[in-house]
Amino acid sequence: MYKLLLVAGARPNFMKIAPLMHVLKDHPSIQPLLVHTGQHYDEKMSGQFFDELDIPAPNINLEVGSASHAVQTARIMEGFEKVCLDETPDCVLVVGDVNSTAACTLVAAKLGIKTIHYEAGLRSHDRTMPEEINRLVTDSISDIFITTSIDANENLLKENVPADKIYMLGNLMIDTLVEQLPKAQSTALEFELLNKNKTIQLNTEFSEKEYGVLTFHRPGNVDDKQTLTELVRLWGNISDKIPLVFPVHPRTYKNIQQFGLQQIINSFPQLYFVEPLGYLQFIHLVSKSKFALTDSGGIQEETTYLNIPCLTVRPNTERPVTVWEGSNKLIKIDEIEEEVQLIIDGKGKSGSVPKFWDGHTAERIVKMIAEAD
Ligand code: UD1
Repeated sequence: MYKLLLVAGARPNFMKIAPLMHVLKDHPSIQPLLVHTGQHYDEKMSGQFFDELDIPAPNINLEVGSASHAVQTARIMEGFEKVCLDETPDCVLVVGDVNSTAACTLVAAKLGIKTIHYEAGLRSHDRTMPEEINRLVTDSISDIFITTSIDANENLLKENVPADKIYMLGNLMIDTLVEQLPKAQSTALEFELLNKNKTIQLNTEFSEKEYGVLTFHRPGNVDDKQTLTELVRLWGNISDKIPLVFPVHPRTYKNIQQFGLQQIINSFPQLYFVEPLGYLQFIHLVSKSKFALTDSGGIQEETTYLNIPCLTVRPNTERPVTVWEGSNKLIKIDEIEEEVQLIIDGKGKSGSVPKFWDGHTAERIVKMIAEAD
């Protein structure tokens, strides 16, 4: 049996690992071993994704928790080196661009273990983003590169990766979306509000296509008091025109409390702050929304598949296919209000679905790994 060690660490990794684990279940020649680094550890950031997406419990959990980037990366490396030495896998597969991705690739590469990076080649060309550093580190030492779109192939070729090491096989996040969408849309949308001590429900407070979804957690947007204050005021102004639901990332909520912004939030009756949602509720919420206003990576892809207008408040994106082909638009903070108005007026962007974002990526990846062996 070929021993394949898969790494998952933070929330956006779980939807990418799930379809692989499903295809690998009872595989005749590959034995999967799942390692959770514990970078995300809250029930709401981790546990419920395993339950909802039917991911088997990890074989090993390194339980590293939160810390500075250096400390978190070092803890993952220390724990993961031991796992590799104990388990002697034939191959390590890492996904995405989080600290766990780069840390485990470094360990595997130095131990001479073959490493596959899924979601290779994405580049924002912005080295102030920790994820960009993780992408560069991971792709500079991986052996096999699986990409989600053609621009990623081009980036890798420019960095002198041999063409025969690059496989454009599609998007695992969309596998999970295709599989879970019917179940998601039958999951009740009822949320506890963080800022108003009550519960709200879709179809009572507001209806389908008559609200927007917010998600913000990038350090560039939420760690600076002035920027976050400006964003909170803008969200408030928009929510007077159309209700906004914001499942808040812990980093953002901590900063809102620390900067004393709760009062502003409470003064807008249609600005709904809720706890981080599980996958099914979140996808239900997005799929019935009029638009998303975000700084996330994954949501740019999910809205492209769903053909829902997405406004990404960032100067760049590592996922340009969502802009040239999909329904995503990159905007600046001072463009938020006019762009949302365009959407309210029915002039939101629509697009098409990129090649191989079709629900069968995990099958293609597992076939490639089995054949390459
Ligand atoms: C990480 C990823 C980012 C991804 C995001 C999705 C890196 C560099 N960043 O950012 O690419 O988009 O996950 O969520 O890997 N926290 C909790 N509970 C948790 C996890 C985190 O309260 O379960 C809090 C901690 O205070 C922590 C902070 O959130 O310090 C940030 O967590 P961290 O894993 O460092 O980065 P994210 O901002 O979540």
